[in-house]
Amino acid sequence: MFTITNQVSGRSFETDGNSPILDDALAHGLNFPYGCQKGACGKCIATIIEGEVSYEREIPSGITPEEIADNMVLLCQCKATTDVSLAVAELDSVADIEVRMLPCKVQSINRLNHDVVQVFLKIPGDESLQYLAGQYIDLIHPDFDPRAFSIANAPVNSSLIELHVRLVEDGKFTNFLFNELKEKALLRLEGPKGTFYFKEDSKKPVILVAGGTGFGPIKAIVEHSIDSNLERQIYVYWGVRDEVDLYMDLPQQWADEYDNIHFVPVLSEPNEKWQGKAGYVHESVLADFDDLTGYEVYACGPPIMVKAAADTFLDQGMIKDNFFSDAFEFAFSGDNNE
Ligand SMILES: Cc1cc2nc3c(=O)[nH]c(=O)nc-3n(C[C@H](O)[C@H](O)[C@H](O)COP(=O)(O)OP(=O)(O)OC[C@H]3O[C@@H](n4cnc5c(N)ncnc54)[C@H](O)[C@@H]3O)c2cc1C
Ligand code: FES
Repeated sequence: MFTITNQVSGRSFETDGNSPILDDALAHGLNFPYGCQKGACGKCIATIIEGEVSYEREIPSGITPEEIADNMVLLCQCKATTDVSLAVAELDSVADIEVRMLPCKVQSINRLNHDVVQVFLKIPGDESLQYLAGQYIDLIHPDFDPRAFSIANAPVNSSLIELHVRLVEDGKFTNFLFNELKEKALLRLEGPKGTFYFKEDSKKPVILVAGGTGFGPIKAIVEHSIDSNLERQIYVYWGVRDEVDLYMDLPQQWADEYDNIHFVPVLSEPNEKWQGKAGYVHESVLADFDDLTGYEVYACGPPIMVKAAADTFLDQGMIKDNFFSDAFEFAFSGDNNE
């Protein structure tokens, strides 16, 4: 095993030298910049300060002879052959990431319960989408105005985008997605978008509050913090109507596997067999934490839930700057198909 250290951030990770340094960096939750992941765009360029790397094939086209002479390498193509100390500016703000329009193919649509599907979108060819855990994309079909959906997987394999989509009653696009859209269909996406993303440099314990499919971006955040080996205490609250709406077992699996991750499902309309918390999800947080002063809170889901959380958490000591949210508004009108 070799140790790769980024002198700019001071962060390091291990690699067995069998995969490109960029892949290992992303798998360990470091937001190294990149674009094509094929050695063509030059966005993953870094300076080697100490140590050796090698390219599997010929020198990639995205680096110039002058850059090579200056000890620069393309991290998407090179593998470590010793411990390596390098310099690269990690992305820590959405302003660092370019918003792009990309084609995407529907790889699969999986029903998770009566009104939620998991959609995997594959970005074809050499392209991939760089984003921060928590951000969303606009999904674009020629017959509809763009629809916003949060990315539900951590930014490791960014040519595959996971979405959790809830069927909206009388909703034009979500009904189309549930009933007509087929695997292999071609769409476009625009992103990444939004300023809701996980702030990794903080050491504060974090409360993640999801309502319904607001669990999607919360999942991306938790997966990313697991990849990054973050040891912060993480409390996941997931509010849904009834047990059937808890459409994934994953949060309970995290809680079973990791000491620092805790999971509290909250049902607003539970069946009589339910033994857990009942009521609105923000009320359970208020009941469990007398004083929210020392916590960061990320809330994601229906606007009414996000607003209720913001208002009541502030009254219970939460510091405004420590509250981050994404409300699933639905402010679209004037579809082409009307
Ligand atoms: C930043 C952001 C991220 C989002 N992420 C997700 C996500 O990850 N998963 C997800 O399932 N949804 C998400 N949404 C909501 C999603 O964009 C809408 O549900 C979707 O656009 C509805 O499209 P539609 O064409 O089916 O409904 P429309 O035809 O546009 O609307 C039909 C009717 O339903 C109402 N309506 C529309 N959307 C909603 C809604 N969300 N809740 C209640 N009533 C609604 C409308 O007011 C209208 O009366 C997100 C929204 C935003 C702004
Ligand atoms: S990401 Fe494009 S050259 Fe490495």
